[in-house]
Amino acid sequence: MIHSRRDFLLALAGLGAGAAAAGVGTHLGRRDTAAAGTDAVRTIRLETREVTWELAPGKTIRAMAYNGQIPGPPIRAREGERLRVVLKNSLGEPTTIHWHGVDVPNPMDGVPGVTQKAVQPGETFVYEFEARPAGTRWYHTHFEEHRQMDLGLAAPLIIEPAGEEPMAYDHDVTLVLDDWATGTGTPVPDTDAGIAGGRGRVGGMMDGGGMGGMMRGMMGGRGMGGMMRGADEPAYDLMTINGKAYPATEPLRVKRGERIRLRILNASSEHTHVVRLAGHRWHLTHTDGNPLRAPVEVDALPIAPAERYDVLLVADRPGAWWLQCTQPGHAAAGERMIVVYDGHRGKTPIEPELGTAGLLWQYGLGRGRPVLAPPTGGTRTFELTLSGGMMGSDVWTINRKVYPNTDPLRFKKGDRARIVLRNMSMEAHPMHLHGQSFALLAANGTRYAEPIVKDVVDVEPHMGSAVIEFTAHNPGDWFFHCHKPMHMKGGMIALVKIA
Ligand code: C2O
Ligand code: CU
Repeated sequence: MIHSRRDFLLALAGLGAGAAAAGVGTHLGRRDTAAAGTDAVRTIRLETREVTWELAPGKTIRAMAYNGQIPGPPIRAREGERLRVVLKNSLGEPTTIHWHGVDVPNPMDGVPGVTQKAVQPGETFVYEFEARPAGTRWYHTHFEEHRQMDLGLAAPLIIEPAGEEPMAYDHDVTLVLDDWATGTGTPVPDTDAGIAGGRGRVGGMMDGGGMGGMMRGMMGGRGMGGMMRGADEPAYDLMTINGKAYPATEPLRVKRGERIRLRILNASSEHTHVVRLAGHRWHLTHTDGNPLRAPVEVDALPIAPAERYDVLLVADRPGAWWLQCTQPGHAAAGERMIVVYDGHRGKTPIEPELGTAGLLWQYGLGRGRPVLAPPTGGTRTFELTLSGGMMGSDVWTINRKVYPNTDPLRFKKGDRARIVLRNMSMEAHPMHLHGQSFALLAANGTRYAEPIVKDVVDVEPHMGSAVIEFTAHNPGDWFFHCHKPMHMKGGMIALVKIA
């Protein structure tokens, strides 16, 4: 999934009016007549069907794919471009598509039973919307995600800014991380409770992050993992980058002096991944597709389910290096790939020192740009307590209620909407809002002066908290839910109603 920035600019420059629509699967949507403000529409065809997919040599599974690919074909669009996506469902069961992080009109949001009827086997459904806002977005099934998303129905949706791209880079590469329960290998350890601690950790030391840190300490960090795992939670035993587990992962070839923009998307259902490139630091530029004021340099990047981060890789240390997840067992399960410089002669990369994650990204390190529309109405605040999963149960609640019995959060268009989240459970909950992005005002009691903008906030376990704010600009009934499909299935969903 690589294309060069230069090619992209050439493609833009070389366009005549009325150029033909580009299909899905081209890495750069050629800019057709669909400049913002015109009526042109680009048609993209997607077909869901079952496929046989080789995750790694000898690891072949029955999966579900968009157009036969895992992850699905990346869609690239210009901000403001009108997209018409014709979905043909050739699965033996219903499906829908959700455009994650895109401000779509409510009927295009892909939530069965809320914004549309599920697309039945053999049926076709047409999604149409303007691609905005710019950034690393994605699309995935919203029908029984705990099965369908786990089987492969997820893909990148990249929206190029309508104006100038503020940052220069030579290549644009997307990495989709995913986990698989194939039943053929050893399940990776459940590190969930431990990772959230990682956010506040520097150089492997806990920052003593209040009660959460204490409790994690008492419980030995992730020692509760096995006990906490819900009875129905899948046992993930293989982990992939762009649909392949090492040694089948494709190496990334770079030249000394190049700048590579990496868009990293965690499409997995349960695990936070902590991505590191040995010998290099990441220059983090975007959170869930939204630009920071200035890049943040970190050694390793924790990515919760459904989160995306754009990082710039400055290729200044020739050699061959591992790009991998530092979570226990994840690299061994396949989540690693090689970054190799042109002209490098050696064979395998030097093993990175595991266990020294170095400086980890955490939300408080970023300074966001105020990209959200200013409110025109009053402020309405809701407090939501996230609980559940006690003694391995698969019931997950918001204010002690299970969807569809959770109370809706009602706003008027233009309101300043504020939601306070408190996590009383022992697992992290990556909470995702449909239809609009939000500013992250605070987490775990720390207020941020320049809030980052996201559409997923990973609320830490053991009394972790987060405060988000957005302008209720997009009318409709929007899902606000934990992006771990088993938690969704267990009830952790509320409706945000904007009238
Ligand atoms: Cu990415 Cu409701 O989903
Ligand atoms: Cu959850």
